[in-house]
Amino acid sequence: LRPVFRRLNCPGPVAADLSREEQPPGSVETGSEDKIPKKRFSEVQKERREQAQRTVLIHCPNKINERKFLKYLSQHGPINNHFFYEGFGLYAVVEFCRKDSVYSLQGGIHTPSLGTEAAIPFKSRFFNLKLKNPSSQISEQPCVETTNQLPPSSKKLFEILYYAESIDDQLNSLLRKFQLTEENTKLRYLTCSFIEDIAAAYFPDCTVRPFGSSVNTFGKLGCDLDMFLDLDEFGKVSTNKNVGNFLMEYQVKNVPSERIATQKILSVIGECLDHLGPGCVGIQKILNARCPLVRFSHQPSGFQCDLTTNNRIALKSSELLYIYGALDSRVRALVFSVRCWARAHSLTSSIPGAWITNFSLTMMVIFFLQRRSPPILPTLDSLKTLADAEDKCIIEGNNCTFTHDLNKIKPSGNTETLELLLKEFFEYYGNFAFSKNSINIRQGKEQNKPDSSPLHIQNPFETSLNISKNVSQSQIQKFVDLARESAWILEQDNKNGPSPRIRPWGLAAVLLPSVVNSKSLTTKKRKKPGSETVKNLLESIKSNSTENPLSTNEK
Ligand code: CTP
Ligand code: MG
Repeated sequence: LRPVFRRLNCPGPVAADLSREEQPPGSVETGSEDKIPKKRFSEVQKERREQAQRTVLIHCPNKINERKFLKYLSQHGPINNHFFYEGFGLYAVVEFCRKDSVYSLQGGIHTPSLGTEAAIPFKSRFFNLKLKNPSSQISEQPCVETTNQLPPSSKKLFEILYYAESIDDQLNSLLRKFQLTEENTKLRYLTCSFIEDIAAAYFPDCTVRPFGSSVNTFGKLGCDLDMFLDLDEFGKVSTNKNVGNFLMEYQVKNVPSERIATQKILSVIGECLDHLGPGCVGIQKILNARCPLVRFSHQPSGFQCDLTTNNRIALKSSELLYIYGALDSRVRALVFSVRCWARAHSLTSSIPGAWITNFSLTMMVIFFLQRRSPPILPTLDSLKTLADAEDKCIIEGNNCTFTHDLNKIKPSGNTETLELLLKEFFEYYGNFAFSKNSINIRQGKEQNKPDSSPLHIQNPFETSLNISKNVSQSQIQKFVDLARESAWILEQDNKNGPSPRIRPWGLAAVLLPSVVNSKSLTTKKRKKPGSETVKNLLESIKSNSTENPLSTNEK
């Protein structure tokens, strides 16, 4: 399911001016100087969560009169904003100004009677709207204004890249087309809020928090939705009530380990999602993984969801990436292009396996930017030295302290272009001593590998862990070969100068199928692509863009 979003032009007091909100809070307009105040990650999370709690999702009839629809809903209170999107039918996301409007709306509706089937009467914030008198309600307006929020097709992307003015422009355009939109971000927080409602039946004080690429500003349209059940509040002792000689605790069931507790909780929540959760389908309990999880599809939003518990360290690494993404406008542009490049060459995959992941690629870009002279990004250790008392954070014995105040971090004096950085990225990793060295963003220095895994990227907070432990030797070799070839292609492009462009150039050229990995090559040995071979290959791909291997669909 790939939702198509529709934004409606809606004058009047209930209509929100979505244009004011084009950018997710805290996000940075890339390619221009950052003029948007940089919000703290925790502020963004809090604001988004609160917005989501005032929001409902409505499955609508295909033809609906928007004005009447909004008028009907505003009986329950003023609407802050709304948008429509297409998934399995037409859906409306409606954010009220006040939370009690949601209760008012819920108070006036009932669970359906289904004839031969029986309904499970779970009252969520996901509704179905029917027309009482369809013929009189059909919209007089011929069509509504629509905004497509899908990632661009391969053809469209190549067009954008082809007509861009420079390689820098190509990287920034790719970022603009692939980054999560305001509506998509809202839908992600709303989905977490729905799951929280279900989990709250057992754990009333729980929070379901999104993490990973949905919140770290590196998410591409179509990426999965990682969320975790935060039960921390549940265990907190209310100090002011504990005066005197007594200490009261909950009577609880004990199990042999934290892991077993996690498995039991996730097992129950998985059952609940399966049996009660409207729109939650394909529930898989993957409880024996290192980090046990429940995987499912949220059908109305189209998100593939991974639910874990108490994953606060992963939320910290999301926050760290958020900070890195906000520090310099080149960071996200470079990461998005590298992620697209890896996807185009099947270095990454939606299927778990021996491939490199987007998270690892992001770490590699950050490390590379720390290694520039002067550095574009600070090391994690230097962010730790900028921290004050309130930033101090120890999770499960791991020191996760770093400054949360973006304004404390000095901007880099490095003025290298994205074009240069992309080429240098490929060169750097094309020649990196993967067999000997580890990537470590905490110190920003190459270090001896502590074990023999083909790719070693230290987990920034759980420093004994390797985030790319799964990557095989052949995958890292493929990465190196492709990086060298891409550096070579960019170098040729540069040498040829601004001559009339008769073929995909710059970023578009490195996203095309590789000569080193093409099936026609029987030898595994790397071969520099002859310009004629590359030209023919590029031309054939260009003329047959529908078969272009650049899959824009992330998962
Ligand atoms: N994570 C981690 N160690 C790993 C894998 C993942 O700490 N070996 C954490 C990271 O915080 C990561 C999050 O789990 O951001 C989600 O993992 P994943 O979905 O694989 O990566 P994303 O960053 O969300 O990227 P994608 O867009 O591919 O989903
Ligand atoms: Mg993810």
